[in-house]
Amino acid sequence: MNATATQMLGTGAADIARAATLLSQGRLVAMPTETVYGLAADACNDAAVAAIYAAKGRPSSNPLIVHVSDLAMAGDYVDFTPIARDMAQAFWPGPLTLVLPLRSGTSLSDRVTAGLSTLAVRMPETPAARALIQSLGRPLAAPSANPSGKVSPTTAAHVMAGLGGKIAAIIDAGPCQIGLESTIIGFEGGPTLLRPGGLPHEAIERMLDQPLRATSIVTDRPNAPGQLASHYAPDAALRMNATSAEPNEVLVGFGPIEGTQTLSASGDLAEAAACLFDRLRSLDATGATRIAVAPIPDKGLGRAINDRLRRAAAPRD
Ligand code: TXA
Ligand code: MG
Repeated sequence: MNATATQMLGTGAADIARAATLLSQGRLVAMPTETVYGLAADACNDAAVAAIYAAKGRPSSNPLIVHVSDLAMAGDYVDFTPIARDMAQAFWPGPLTLVLPLRSGTSLSDRVTAGLSTLAVRMPETPAARALIQSLGRPLAAPSANPSGKVSPTTAAHVMAGLGGKIAAIIDAGPCQIGLESTIIGFEGGPTLLRPGGLPHEAIERMLDQPLRATSIVTDRPNAPGQLASHYAPDAALRMNATSAEPNEVLVGFGPIEGTQTLSASGDLAEAAACLFDRLRSLDATGATRIAVAPIPDKGLGRAINDRLRRAAAPRD
């Protein structure tokens, strides 16, 4: 792919209109969401969706999430079961992705689903993302805006560092509020947690009044290819549940365990989630080769934090 100058845009009306024009021309635009920055293309433009895979170096077998501005737009592309509709009504807009049967005869590019009969849909909360989708008038396919296998971006500068020169523009809305990717729920065989994320699974279970089924983290044919063991990886090696640093390690603290850096001195999981990816990136930038991370409680957002740390700690191919 030829190098392009990547334009940095703000969230004002003129910049959103400019970004929507670029998308309508089949170009790629990184957009802010409350979870992480997404690399967006018109989900109905086959060549534009192909360009997402090329820019990220993502295997074409790994399907994308489609972002909608309202429930009616989602209903044009997927069939909602009553439970799925209740969940969308309770938690959208927000950090929840629903994997539902794809409707037949839509204008969606086949590349979005990588040939699956289901489609992952989400309504983001960030106003700039919703305004962009409304302005284009069609859903946006958007994976996290990072080269495949690397840590997701939570600032416009992270996106520029990974994809600058490969995409048309980045809309900068400051750091993402949540800082971890969305929670993904599938419905085959009952509501199932496919990826823990920015919406704590406990909130969903309370709403459903039943436990979610869970899939195993690593399977031969993952439902969410984000379930592959090594993913979200910093350059440095990572060790979890560390109470002190071993030689050559940099310790990242949490709560009472003090490190060279901390995810949250007060033990606040939301604060830790919001800064986790930025901490991993800045440690890489210092040339650290071994990162040790203090224990994180495995509840609420801690479940998603531990999931990402486990993948970062997994053996690399
Ligand atoms: O918060 C998020 O979810 C961010 C923002 C940009 O919305 N997006 C994101 O996209 O994390 P991505 O592509 O990095 O992760 C989406 C995950 C992948 O693991 C993919 O395999 C899975 O969703 N996925 C997509 N469509 C699916 C489907 N039909 N069935 C099962 N898994 C699916
Ligand atoms: Mg990703």
